Parts: sequence; structure tokens; C-alpha cells
Amino acid sequence: MYLSRRDEKTLEGEFGKGNQKAMEILLALGEIYGADRLIEIKSAQLSGVSYKTMGEYGLEFLEEFSRECKVKIKTFLNPCGMDRVRWREMGIDEEFAKKQRRLINAYLQMGVEPTLTCTPYYFYEPEFKEHLAWAESSAVIYVNSIFGARTNREAGPSALAAAVIGKTPNYGLHLKENRKAQILVEVKTKLKGSDFGALGYLVGREIGSKIPYFKGFRAKKDELKALGAALAASGAVPMFHLERTTPEWRKAISDVEVLKIERDEIESVYRELNTASDAELIALGCPHCSLKEIKKIAEILDERKNFEKELWVCTSKFIHEKAKELGYVDIIERFGVVLCDTCMVVSPIEGKFKSTGVNSGKAACYLPSFSKQKVVFGEIKKLLGEKI
Ligand code: F3S
Repeated sequence: MYLSRRDEKTLEGEFGKGNQKAMEILLALGEIYGADRLIEIKSAQLSGVSYKTMGEYGLEFLEEFSRECKVKIKTFLNPCGMDRVRWREMGIDEEFAKKQRRLINAYLQMGVEPTLTCTPYYFYEPEFKEHLAWAESSAVIYVNSIFGARTNREAGPSALAAAVIGKTPNYGLHLKENRKAQILVEVKTKLKGSDFGALGYLVGREIGSKIPYFKGFRAKKDELKALGAALAASGAVPMFHLERTTPEWRKAISDVEVLKIERDEIESVYRELNTASDAELIALGCPHCSLKEIKKIAEILDERKNFEKELWVCTSKFIHEKAKELGYVDIIERFGVVLCDTCMVVSPIEGKFKSTGVNSGKAACYLPSFSKQKVVFGEIKKLLGEKI
């Protein structure tokens, strides 16, 4: 892989140990994947933020690394293990909170923005063809597919290295020829609400890391977000095309294998993912809620007199502020809490709950293994106790 003179100096350690380590990671990645050079990126997004997933070793590594270098570009953070203000209400213990704060502080010391969300695209819309190095799989698939931005599915360390250097190796989805569909998915049934997550779960599991081209339905952005998150969770899908919808659909497909999805297959996902008949916690916002999703939840709840279960609605600080101004947060908080900075998967809910109700295919996929939860997976209205 070609390196500029400055990159070589970085590799030789001229700009400190942290920069040197970061360059070593990028060089190794570039050589594994046959990249010709490093390309500049506009932003990075880092995973590995919750103390639940990072643990003691991750915390120590990061604290040491944060003393050695700073990020060079706009860099966002994924959700952490708790709402930084309301962690006590979540049942988080002091020790976890202390470690979590240390982890976030290490990132802050490097100049990372404490966005703590998996949906940074609500306040930072990448341009078509803009190169990025993002790590959160649901955000990667969203920005590749919906904005036509270009990022590989980075791991925590490679996204961090890219943030420090301001560049990433030029391979994979940074190259136009690798963004074509590898499988045509014909959807033969009508989809609504949580069906998009169910479809994503089903197709992701079937196709692994291939890029699908969907036809047979139209969808709103929130539905595409749910579809993409589940595709990237049960599989490792980095982007998708949807006929007449996503920006690169026109030249995305040639002669590829075909997968047909019928209603009974979607129904089988519900049977598989539903492992409980009732849930102690209802947790919405995976990926983090958009303003429209919060509005919808508030409208459903506004009609109700009471709601017996614990209710969490997860979103970013950015969306929370807007939802607060519009009165949606106050409505929801008559029944539950609107949490920022965290989510039901990366916070240690296993210490408090045994079963969780979600409308997200991604959360339904992760909660059993990641958080030891039995799951109720279905429509928001149903989870909130309405007859549908
Ligand atoms: Fe986001 Fe947590 Fe889901 S990070 S995509 S809300 S698992």
C-alpha cells in the first residue's frame, strides 16, 4: 500500500506512539484487503463505548491510548452503558457508573464528541460518496444505503485508528465496483411496522455479508433503518439497495441469484424471536429513535390512562432536546423514561430484568445472548398494550 512521506514518518513514530499504533493498524488492514492507498475521511464513528462490552482490559487500553494521541477529524461515539444523568433510575450501580465515566473521559481526552448515539446521521448527514470510517453496524448500513456515503463496517480499533490518522485504507465499500448487489430479494408480502425488522433478520441470516437488492415494497426512512439494523445484526450486511428508493439502485444489479420472501417466512421470524409471552421491560429505540418515532410513541401513550410495565424509550441527546421542546418527552414520561446515551442492549439490563419487549429485529436478535433476556418482539402498539 502506498504511503505518503508523512504517513511513513507516522509509522516510524515521529508523531508519537499513539499515532504510530494507529498507522500500524491501518497499514495491516490495507495490506490484508489489498488497498492501494489511504484515503481521507470526513468523519469517524466509534463503537466499544459501553463498559459492559469493553470491560477492564478495554478501559485500561483506552486510558493508555488516550494519553498518546488525539483524533484528527469529527468523531462520534456509539451509545454507552447508561444515561449519563439518569443512570440511577436505570438501576445502574455506582461501580459500573464510575468505570463508564472513565471510559467516556478517555474518549473525550482524545477529542471525540460525546454524541453517544447509534444514529449520528440525524445531526450529521453525510454527502453522497463521502468517505467515512464508522463502526456501528446499523449506522454503517444506513449511511451507505440511504445517503450513498462510503464506509466499511469498521471494528472499534480500526475506526479509532482512522479517527486518529484522518484516513482509512481504500478498499471494500470505498470502491464503486464493490457496492453492487450480489443477491436480488423479491418480497412477496405487504410489510408494516416490525415486519421490516423481521425481514432484515431473515434475510441477514440467509445472505451473510452479501449486498442485497430489494424489490416488492416501498418504505419510509424509519422502516429502512429497522430493516438495515436487523440485516447487519443477524448477518454482516454492510449496505442494501431498494428499487426506486435508495440513491444507487439504478446501476446496482445485474445477473444475480434470487431470494423470494413470502408471508409465512416473516411469520416464522416472529415465532422464532418471541421467547416470552410477557415482558417486564418495554424498550423502544433500537436504533435510537428519530423524532417521528418519538412522536408516534407519545401519540399512542397520550390516549392511555396508565401503563403498568417499565418503559424505556432510547434516543440521542439531539433528538431528545427536540422531542422535549415539542412536548413528546413529557407525555412519554407520564408512563416511562426517555433515555439518552444508552440502549437496552449495551446497558447491563440483565441485572434487573429477565424479559424485554422490543419492536426491533436487531434488539430481538441480540438481547438473548447479550443480555440474557427472553424476548417479546412485535409492533409498538401491541407492546404498549393496544389491541391491533
Ligand atoms: Fe443502537 Fe443499541 Fe440498537 S447501539 S442499534 S440501540 S443495539
